[in-house]
Amino acid sequence: MGESPEDDFGLPAREVSQFWNELQAEHARVLRESGPETVKRQQALRYFTWRWSWSGLRRSEQFRFLLRHSTPIDLLKALLEKTDLDDSSWQEVPWPRADRRLYCVATRLLWQYAERMTSGHGALGLAEPLTGSPLPVSFDGRLISQDLANSALELSAIERGGADKPRHVLEIGAGYGRTAYVFLSLYEECRYTIVDIEPALTLSRWYLSQLFDPERLTFLTPEQIESVAAKSVDLAVSISTLSEMTPRTRDGYLGFLDEVTAGGRIYLKQWMNWHNPVDNLDVRFDDFAIPERWVLVLKEPCPVQTRFVQAMWRNPG
Ligand SMILES: C[S@@+](CC[C@H](N)C(=O)[O-])C[C@H]1O[C@@H](n2cnc3c(N)ncnc32)[C@H](O)[C@@H]1O
Repeated sequence: MGESPEDDFGLPAREVSQFWNELQAEHARVLRESGPETVKRQQALRYFTWRWSWSGLRRSEQFRFLLRHSTPIDLLKALLEKTDLDDSSWQEVPWPRADRRLYCVATRLLWQYAERMTSGHGALGLAEPLTGSPLPVSFDGRLISQDLANSALELSAIERGGADKPRHVLEIGAGYGRTAYVFLSLYEECRYTIVDIEPALTLSRWYLSQLFDPERLTFLTPEQIESVAAKSVDLAVSISTLSEMTPRTRDGYLGFLDEVTAGGRIYLKQWMNWHNPVDNLDVRFDDFAIPERWVLVLKEPCPVQTRFVQAMWRNPG
């Protein structure tokens, strides 16, 4: 990674961590070969859709969390629901059948946990779009998904952190757009701006433009962020992103958020501590250069992804 020129926010233009450089290349290859139609079965598994396998189960903190927070009836319901393991329904997902079943059971436990912990905002009442080929997991006879359940939990935290029906949300690193789907569905007045690198930007544009009026959507590369007006964003969101960037890029984005969210709020969900093996970086959430004027309104270990922390600030401007 060579030095690169900085923009007004100190954000090094075009600097992408080696970690994401490698993933970008892999995701672009998959996009070229399969198109975007199977994004929820391919790239999403490296965004925020977690896989569970029998071989890794003993080490899975998420699975342990789900078991600890499930009743015997939850477990029974998760096990007894009809499960489609047929190869034709799991195209592009060459997992053993036992792992497919485990994935369905874990997703149902997560769903029931989210049902208990979220109320009011209605995210779990949304349909999981067939766009992007979601994995065939059903519960109570309907299609459910891990992404919708996680987004519902995140939205509850965001509401607890004081965001009230934001009219302009900006997200840094949106993957294929799972979080945007929830905001744009629940808040009809909301506009959504995504800042991302390729090919995620192409994927989220492809996904969200089919589901929502394109007038509500803006897609920006990191080089285009200066087009976002100061104080124009009510809520900024960034999930599982900043820890994976170079420290300079991450801190540049925090400076950018400081300017555009003045008077609004910021929600971050990131690894608490993480070793980036590709760039050989040890990253601690508590080392992020959070602007001094931000007022912390929420900070807690995340449910389910217990090695993540979620925090929210008010930016007094
Ligand atoms: C692990 S994925 C998380 C996706 C999404 N937030 C979610 O929770 O589903 C990380 C995201 O950060 C994006 N990203 C990586 N480096 C970036 C950079 N320098 N600027 C903007 N986005 C970046 C990736 O393209 C991807 O969309």
